[in-house]
Amino acid sequence: MPRNAKYQPITRLHRRTLYYCFGAVAVFALVYLYHRPIDAFAVPFEQHVAYMNVPPGTHNFVAKDSYDWRKAPFRNKIESYTPLPTGRPHTLPPIQYKFAQETSSQKRLREKRRVAVREEFERSWDSYKKFAWTRDELTPLSGKGDDTFGGWGATLVDSLDTLWIMGFKKEFYEAVEAVATIDFGKSDMSTISVFETTIRYLGGLLAAYDLSGEKVLLDKAIQLGEMLYRAFDTDNNMPQDRLAVEPSKLSDGPGFSSDNSICLAGIGSLTMEFTRLAQVTGQAKYYDAVARVTDFFDRAQNTTRIPGLFPIWVNAYKQDITQDRTFTMGAMADSTYEYFPKMFALLGGLEPVYEKLYKDSAEMIDKHLLYRPMIPDTARGQEILFSGSAHAKDPDHVSLDAEMQHLTCFIGGFFGLAGRIFENDHHVDLGAKLTEGCIFAYSSMPTGVMPEIFDIVACDSRSSCPWNATKWEEEVLRKTYAHSHDDFQDMVDELKLPEGFTDLRDKRYLLRPEAIESVFIMHRITGQEEYMDHAWDMFTSIRKHSSTRLANGQIIDITEADPSPLPEDKMESFWLAETLKYFYLIFSPPDMIDLDDWVFNTEAHPFRRPKWTQTVTATG
Ligand SMILES: *[C@@H]1O[C@H](CO)[C@@H](O)[C@H](O)[C@H]1NC(C)=O
Ligand SMILES: *[C@@H]1O[C@H](CO)[C@@H](O)[C@H](O)[C@H]1NC(C)=O
Repeated sequence: MPRNAKYQPITRLHRRTLYYCFGAVAVFALVYLYHRPIDAFAVPFEQHVAYMNVPPGTHNFVAKDSYDWRKAPFRNKIESYTPLPTGRPHTLPPIQYKFAQETSSQKRLREKRRVAVREEFERSWDSYKKFAWTRDELTPLSGKGDDTFGGWGATLVDSLDTLWIMGFKKEFYEAVEAVATIDFGKSDMSTISVFETTIRYLGGLLAAYDLSGEKVLLDKAIQLGEMLYRAFDTDNNMPQDRLAVEPSKLSDGPGFSSDNSICLAGIGSLTMEFTRLAQVTGQAKYYDAVARVTDFFDRAQNTTRIPGLFPIWVNAYKQDITQDRTFTMGAMADSTYEYFPKMFALLGGLEPVYEKLYKDSAEMIDKHLLYRPMIPDTARGQEILFSGSAHAKDPDHVSLDAEMQHLTCFIGGFFGLAGRIFENDHHVDLGAKLTEGCIFAYSSMPTGVMPEIFDIVACDSRSSCPWNATKWEEEVLRKTYAHSHDDFQDMVDELKLPEGFTDLRDKRYLLRPEAIESVFIMHRITGQEEYMDHAWDMFTSIRKHSSTRLANGQIIDITEADPSPLPEDKMESFWLAETLKYFYLIFSPPDMIDLDDWVFNTEAHPFRRPKWTQTVTATG
């Protein structure tokens, strides 16, 4: 998932005269409203049972908020809502491998590893509870709380479903009780990131509700969803990158304008959370909001510099994506692509546009972004792949930047999962090779942990790629503007470059999940046991170099292994929400969050997939 917190977009607020349209349209709307309640809080949940199947909760916590976001104005009125697709959800092809019964020695080893991950989680969670309860983050060295995402307890909400999955039931209900008292009615921050708030908080609440059925979690999701829905209160209903919290409450206040420059992930990866919210509440308006963005993407997909792909920067105000020339599966783009096949699954295969968006982009990702790195013969197992970034004037003038970001490591699981959903073995194979690439990158570093960003030599061809030390040297010299063989040796020593690598552009490891995410998904898809061994190597390396007295902190330099420096005083909520959850799941029995029943959002929050046995009657 992208972390675009550093990016400060140009948010243009301008006064907008409210315009009410009387006459035929209003009369029609009134008649329509009268006959069909679009306030679907009035629509009984049973009507949406096919999308629900949420077990009843056992507690009766009551939500407290200082402001009811359901009553907030929405100035750029929408005349009619795109409904959730109706009909019987399709039976999609199975995703998970049919695992055989494990032997008792396999079970012993797996259980030992599962318990070790659980203990690592417990250490961080206990410290969070003790030193940072209800704050966004724990600072893992100094033992304090820090607020980074609205100040509503990001780590608390993000960790709920992990607590549930790991069987920390007492801690789960303690946390839910605290969540009930979060006040989404106000924020300490004047603006919030719509994307981060959606994937971490809204995704976290919805998944915890799907798992536990605790109604207060749904009440909180509705309050937060209603707030975030105001990000769509723009002249063309495209969502803003950042939402100004207080101005969203003013019915006679200035309206919003959509951004003329918003990153792809910021506008394109709200679909799963808003769709799930629509499914469990029966309110079409949440689905309608994101369906409008999908329509725009569908119309514009073949207008970009590389038709099929979407560039990093989008002009949402003009609904134009023809300008930007940079394409990547990494930061600021990633989860938009990730959500195409996942939306197809979440909607039970009833909305074909997500298949089209996936297929047309996947073909171009394969063609223009994937590359085989040149690595020493000794390091070579099977063929591995990475995904870089491309600069393009048009599809005939594309130049590849042979980089790899840790964020991009989700791509192995992405191709694996989509390959199963759309029955494309080539894509499953790409998924395996890309996952192998990230495993290789972890094992190449002195700490056994992959850096945030590196560069490497790309092969000219995917079919044959012999090791060539001269070529490696030339590439390193070119990048560093150096000339001699001695310069090359100095650079390799100074930057601690493993063979084939030409730069380690960001040597940190930020406790990110994407590599283990792909290893976990490929394991569930193929059943191959080696993935568990790779996962264990990754886990022990990360644990060794990120542990603090209280929890885990970001690793400063993945090339410093002996001794490794103190980690940074920072632990983002995704360490507990995602990284440790995926490590835990790969060492759990494969029916724990079965991928044929659940689909993860980009923050590792599992949403229930619709059951094919019941007919969807949602009208919203
Ligand atoms: C994009 O596709 C649509 C329909 O598939 C077609 O009508 C349109 O001409 C295409 N545009 C470009 C620029 O290729
Ligand atoms: C190795 O790379 C160099 C520099 O690109 C090239 O001149 C040389 O022909 C290559 N050697 C082989 C065996 O391909």
